[in-house]
Amino acid sequence: MIEISNLSKSFPSPSGEETVHVFQNVDLAVEEGSSVAIVGPSGSGKSTLLNVIGLLDKPSEGRIVVDQKDLAALSEGEVSKYRNQTVGFVFQAHHLLPACTVLENVMLPGLAGFNEKASGQLKDRANQLLEEVGLGHRTAHFPGQISGGERQRVAVARSLINQPSVLLADEPTGALDRKNSEHLIDLLTKLNEEKKLTLVMVTHSGVSASEMKQAYRLDEGSLRQER
Ligand SMILES: Nc1ncnc2c1ncn2[C@@H]1O[C@H](COP(=O)(O)OP(=O)(O)O)[C@@H](O)[C@H]1O
Ligand SMILES: [Mg+2]
Repeated sequence: MIEISNLSKSFPSPSGEETVHVFQNVDLAVEEGSSVAIVGPSGSGKSTLLNVIGLLDKPSEGRIVVDQKDLAALSEGEVSKYRNQTVGFVFQAHHLLPACTVLENVMLPGLAGFNEKASGQLKDRANQLLEEVGLGHRTAHFPGQISGGERQRVAVARSLINQPSVLLADEPTGALDRKNSEHLIDLLTKLNEEKKLTLVMVTHSGVSASEMKQAYRLDEGSLRQER
């Protein structure tokens, strides 16, 4: 599902005089339906790697093939489609819109290419996803009226509205207490197993990492498989 070869990312330093190498020569292969944890110290480039896979950022060198498509060869329109439909994102901060209800937040990424006929289906699908994440009773609430753990589960439902084949999660439990973290990881592993959703998760938690089928460590610019 994901094949990364010889991937490198560097940024110019603020003065523009030097280059900051975040990671170099990264290889990673993730099979369809697998789940991968990426661990490593703060600042090691985990978010950068995830952003590059999700095309929120461009690699400096190397090749990324997702679902048999070479990401460097995508047209502008295909890039938007890739970000909106092939991959789903969950971040440490939920980024829900406070003035929209839980249901509206989940529907939002589905509104691109929206038409009148599809609106009923979109709403049904959002309701069904909220049911699946255990929030069928919270659809009319606003983000400020639900708990942190619930907000993060809304973010997971939202990431799935366009039926992505890959879910990229960047420290999704980073702001949650232990009980809510466990609940969220259970949800992600259930989605991975039941929907064959390929999952790549950055985490600081050894417990969360151990729930993934494979684990890699990013440190000092290199990615190494731990199991
Ligand atoms: N847009 C950017 N411009 C310059 N440097 C960046 C940028 N984004 C990230 N970096 C640098 O890349 C390194 C890795 O950051 P990050 O991917 O956020 O690490 P992690 O998620 O592992 O904590 C850091 O040293 C950071 O300063
Ligand atoms: Mg990070």
